[in-house]
Amino acid sequence: MTNVEHLEGPKPFSRDRNMAATAPKYLSVWEIEAYYGESYIVQNVSFDIHEGEILALLGRNGAGKTSTLRTIARLDDPALKHGEIWLDHQPLHEMKSHQAAAAGIALVPEDRRIIAGLTVEENLQLAQIAPPIGWSLERIYELFPRLGERRKQEGVTLSGGEQQMLSIARALARDIKVLLLDEPYEGLAPVIVQEIAKTLEIIRDQGITTVIVEQNAVAALKLADRAVILDTGTVVYDGSAQEVLDDEQLRAQYLAI
Ligand SMILES: Nc1ncnc2c1ncn2[C@@H]1O[C@H](COP(=O)(O)OP(=O)(O)OP(=O)(O)O)[C@@H](O)[C@H]1O
Ligand SMILES: [Mg+2]
Repeated sequence: MTNVEHLEGPKPFSRDRNMAATAPKYLSVWEIEAYYGESYIVQNVSFDIHEGEILALLGRNGAGKTSTLRTIARLDDPALKHGEIWLDHQPLHEMKSHQAAAAGIALVPEDRRIIAGLTVEENLQLAQIAPPIGWSLERIYELFPRLGERRKQEGVTLSGGEQQMLSIARALARDIKVLLLDEPYEGLAPVIVQEIAKTLEIIRDQGITTVIVEQNAVAALKLADRAVILDTGTVVYDGSAQEVLDDEQLRAQYLAI
C-alpha cells in the first residue's frame, strides 16, 4: 500500500513509528532531523528501502535531497540531531562517516571527485587500498568496458559520462551495500543517461541497493522501483515510481515537470 498525501497538500508524512523502530528494513531512515549550524534543514524525514531496490529521492531545488544523502552517509554537515538510520541492523546514526563507509554506505557526490593526476585504474586501485574490497577490476571493466579501454588514461580527461561511470565504479571497488547517487545524470546527453541507467539496472540485479537523487526526475522515475519526494525538508510522497510518472498533479506540485 502506498501513502499518497499530496491531495491534502504538504504535511508531515505519518508512519508507524513502532514498525520502523523494531523491524528495520534493509535501509531504514527514521525521523531524522539534521542541521547546518542553527538551520533546521532535514525535518523529520522517514523512509525505508528494501534490499536490491532502486529508490528515487526527488524534489525541487533546495528541497533537502543532498542534505538527506549527506546525513545518511554521516558526514559532519548537516549534523544529525534526532532520529535513527539503520543499515542491515547496523546503527548508522551512531557512526562517523568512515564507519558508515565501512558499514557499506557509498556516497557518490555531484562533483564526482575524480582524482587529478591519477589514471582510471589508479583511481580504482586507490579505492581498494584498504579492505573491505568489493568488485575486482576485471569485473568492473566487464560492466564498464569503456573504463577498461581507457584504464591508462588520466581520470579527469575522460568525458563527463565516463567520469560518472568511473565514480560509480570506484564505489563498487569497495564492498558496499548501498549506493547513494547525487545527480549522476547532471550535464550528460540523453544517450549517455540511458547508458548509465542500464548499468544501474545491472548493478541492482547484482544485489546493490541504490538511492538516486536527480533533477531529471523522469529518467530517475523510469529507473526506480519506488520514489520519495521531499519538499522543504519533509517527505510529501512515498510510493511507487510509476504512480508519480502517471500523476500529473503530483509532478506539477512537487517536481515542476
Ligand atoms: N552548508 C550549508 N549551510 C547552510 N545551509 C545549507 C547548506 N547546504 C545546503 N543548505 C540549505 O539546505 C537546504 C537544502 O539544500 P540541499 O542542498 O539539501 O537541497 P537539494 O534538494 O539537494 O537541492 P538541489 O536540487 O539544488 O541540489 C537549502 O535551503 C540550502 O540552502
Ligand atoms: Mg542537491
